[in-house]
Amino acid sequence: MTKKVKIKDKEFRILIEGDRIQHRVAEIASQINKDYKGKSPLFLGVLNGAFLFTADLFKKIDLTCMLSFVRVSSYSGTSSTGQVKSLIGLNENIEGRDIIIVEDIVDTGDTMLYLMAELKKQNPASVKIATAIFKPLALKHPIKPDYVGFELPPAFIVGYGLDYDGFGRNLNDIYVLNEE
Ligand code: IMP
Repeated sequence: MTKKVKIKDKEFRILIEGDRIQHRVAEIASQINKDYKGKSPLFLGVLNGAFLFTADLFKKIDLTCMLSFVRVSSYSGTSSTGQVKSLIGLNENIEGRDIIIVEDIVDTGDTMLYLMAELKKQNPASVKIATAIFKPLALKHPIKPDYVGFELPPAFIVGYGLDYDGFGRNLNDIYVLNEE
């Protein structure tokens, strides 16, 4: 039987098992380890959603590297607000550094567009994006994530850090809204 969860008024069904997520995260980590060999990138996890992906990924990185967290915008409901407000928490000097943004999901790309523009103002050596989920059909901007866990259709998902009105971030698997 399909695994299901109920969060507030909505029912979600399982889409990606936790084991599959972990396997994919390990693959991304080994790609980053190869690509950044001899370099010391700064990982920037985007709160709140990316906290689990950032932790899982970072544990598997064998480079001499640093980690910091930033926050971009608030979000509630089942679609992106499109209202990116401000960048909070970037205390490092990133000039000349290799930056890897770690995000939970690139949906419309509003958040990434804003964050990339803000970071580039400080002249980093490079900026790449690692995202657990990418929804290419929802994308509104010319954003191309460099490391993608899973490409999904635009349906709303929860789990593995992603929330529905603040709930569901603690789920080990990723679930999709059951619209039947
Ligand atoms: P953006 O539209 O790419 O700017 O995504 C903005 C934010 O919306 C993401 O960082 C997520 O927090 C949230 N978001 C987008 N799609 C989903 C989803 O399917 N589930 C939960 N949160 C989502």
